[in-house]
Amino acid sequence: MSSDLHSALLTWYQHHQRKLPWRGEPDPYRVLLSEVLLQQTRVEQAIPYYHRFLQRFPTLEALARAEQEAVLKAWQGCGYYARARNLHRLAQQVVAAGGTLPTTVEGLRALPGLGPYTAAAVASIVFGEPVAAVDGNVRRVLSRLFAWEQPTPKLVQEAADALLSALAQQKDARPGDWNQALMELGATVCTPQNPGCGGCPVAAFCRGKASPERYPAARVRKQKSLELAALVLQGPAGVHLELRQGPVLGGLWGVPMEEEPGALERLLARFGLDSAEPVGSVRHDFTHRKLLIRVYKACWEATENPERRPLSRLDRKILELVKAHPRPPE
Ligand code: ADE
Repeated sequence: MSSDLHSALLTWYQHHQRKLPWRGEPDPYRVLLSEVLLQQTRVEQAIPYYHRFLQRFPTLEALARAEQEAVLKAWQGCGYYARARNLHRLAQQVVAAGGTLPTTVEGLRALPGLGPYTAAAVASIVFGEPVAAVDGNVRRVLSRLFAWEQPTPKLVQEAADALLSALAQQKDARPGDWNQALMELGATVCTPQNPGCGGCPVAAFCRGKASPERYPAARVRKQKSLELAALVLQGPAGVHLELRQGPVLGGLWGVPMEEEPGALERLLARFGLDSAEPVGSVRHDFTHRKLLIRVYKACWEATENPERRPLSRLDRKILELVKAHPRPPE
């Protein structure tokens, strides 16, 4: 079955792949950037960031020289900011070691922020190394192909490795095309809901096609609910922003925030205020957190211009809410 499966999918990929700015790109830095973006961002959303980032940092050297704040500014709004911080560290590390990216999956894997998926994607796409890259799309495609409801990561990886090594026996094999063909199928045909089995190039080989949505079973995502208060301090010269710390929004700037209980009291105490005016609330979801933020405002001699700092989407929403809130009568 295997070589018919391979040729069916590769022929489909040749004709139906989306034209993406990083396809066929020989510069490893560019492909690396695209794969880091695509770790957690959909293709349509990633494209403008890809261009914006390269305009700002056209080479690994330019990225290595940049300030972290400028890197985060270029990433602003894209989320999962650890990716940007890691990419920046990666550039500094690689440039300090001579400036050339490693060309093997092991070498890439040792760099900040490159997990097994990203390292394998870059090694196969740019350097032709026969290693399987397993992302969420590939997991879904293989689960349907083999009718697996609850595959372990090991099972999926072994199946992906077996398919790839069967391909690698053939002459002129292009492992990067194979990996991307599987991802492309998952992104455009073998979608989570309403997959297009009628137009699927590998339907003849698929054990799950009678009820594709059963495979793989949905994973239950545990999201913790958190309540917070945010205090927007503003005056004629700007707003008060602070540099955030920690793994989630570290390195970005934002308005003062505290977790409940006692959030507003702590915020007021921090700034020596007696009261603040409630403005409304904002909801925001991170992968593992559902946030409800009550927003307050008060007057303050503040000087930051939010346009000039890297801000998260969450902080933008808070500032938008305050902007839309009518001023009380003088
Ligand atoms: N998702 C992540 N990387 C991809 C790629 N190279 N092609 C299609 N989808 C992807």
